[in-house]
Amino acid sequence: MNKKLLVTGGAGFIGSHVVRRLVNKYPDYHIFNLDKLTYAGNLANLKDVESKPNYTFVKGDIVDADFINALFSEHRFDGVIHLAAESHVDRSITNPLEFVMTNVIGTVNLLNAAKKYWAEAYSEHRFYHVSTDEVYGSLGEIGLFTEETKYDPHSPYSASKASSDHFVRAYHDTFGLPVVISNCSNNYGPFHFPEKLLPLAIHNIKNNKPVPVYGKGENIRDWLFVEDHAVAIDLIFHTGKLGTTYNIGGNNEWKNIDIIRLLCQLMDKKLNRPAGNSEKLITFVKDRAGHDLRYAIDSSKLQNELGWKPSLRLEEGLERTVDWYLSNDQWLSNVTSGAYQQYYETQYDGR
Ligand code: NAD
Ligand code: DAU
Repeated sequence: MNKKLLVTGGAGFIGSHVVRRLVNKYPDYHIFNLDKLTYAGNLANLKDVESKPNYTFVKGDIVDADFINALFSEHRFDGVIHLAAESHVDRSITNPLEFVMTNVIGTVNLLNAAKKYWAEAYSEHRFYHVSTDEVYGSLGEIGLFTEETKYDPHSPYSASKASSDHFVRAYHDTFGLPVVISNCSNNYGPFHFPEKLLPLAIHNIKNNKPVPVYGKGENIRDWLFVEDHAVAIDLIFHTGKLGTTYNIGGNNEWKNIDIIRLLCQLMDKKLNRPAGNSEKLITFVKDRAGHDLRYAIDSSKLQNELGWKPSLRLEEGLERTVDWYLSNDQWLSNVTSGAYQQYYETQYDGR
């Protein structure tokens, strides 16, 4: 093995796609997946790689500095790809402190460990922080987020991610830590936890339950198939310029109501329901507090410098996603039992 990589949050949605890609593509790397296994972490996401010789799962909390230091001391990682986070905006409105703990303190703990254990040869290491386009705030009807857009976060989630990005940059500028950051738009695809819009809607349509759309459904998001994000992460980790940021986006802007209508049409076909059946489930509910209107990404830097581009149109990616959820019933039933039910009742007033 010539490289030991620490991936944090590898049992989550995006992390599991990143771990799978790295374990399969780089048999000479050893991939350590560090995850606390919160409600969002699920080892079932990685069943297909769990017995590979170049993969090790470590259960632990990035908020625990002693534990993180001991892990770095034991394994002397060559690189870190940091994805572990509290990731759901609605939960950040209910419990902001949890987001500060994991997203800010947890990130600083990792930076401190990297600074300490890599001090003798920074040039042989790399700390990659995976972040979000939400740090840039909200766009009006025109314009795109570039890497130069001023940070303007509105939710406790995006404020905690913005803070973590600032710390990562500060460790580069102050201590010379070899860091790279990316800020990506909304991902979708297999293993997406059904608290997020698309998997929640797929689950509810399948079960003939109301599909909650916040406000008037006018908010716009840019959607990227999760495997395309994993490809970008692999590329940026290996070839991204240190001390810089890359925006990642799908070039796929959709109003929430339009993407939900498209999903309803697709689900009618897949479930052999009469056309228009699933759309009747759409229910407009109370808007999210501080709801950002529009996100849209200019990813030309990543495309021009590193040669990445999204491989799927949303229509294709959505069909692949729906097919996956319909043929992975057990995964969905497992994650929607227990604590999820309680969350759902509170978030949507028992609808
Ligand atoms: P997720 O919620 O599905 O997964 C997060 C993972 O982190 C889970 O496995 C969880 O168990 C783990 N985790 C949480 N707290 C932890 C802690 N204290 N210690 C160790 N592990 C912990 O999130 P995701 O959607 O896969 O997002 C991954 C990363 O990508 C996050 O940093 C997020 O901000 C960023 N991101 C997400 C999107 C998106 O659309 N989902 C887009 C851009 C950026
Ligand atoms: O932009 C990147 C971000 O995308 C990531 O950093 C976050 O981790 C990820 O959760 C996602 O944030 P969003 O808030 O955009 O995703 P979510 O799926 O929660 O919501 C998408 C849009 O749909 C948003 O405008 C809110 C709306 N929505 C969401 C839910 C859960 C609804 O209308 N109804 C819902 O029930």
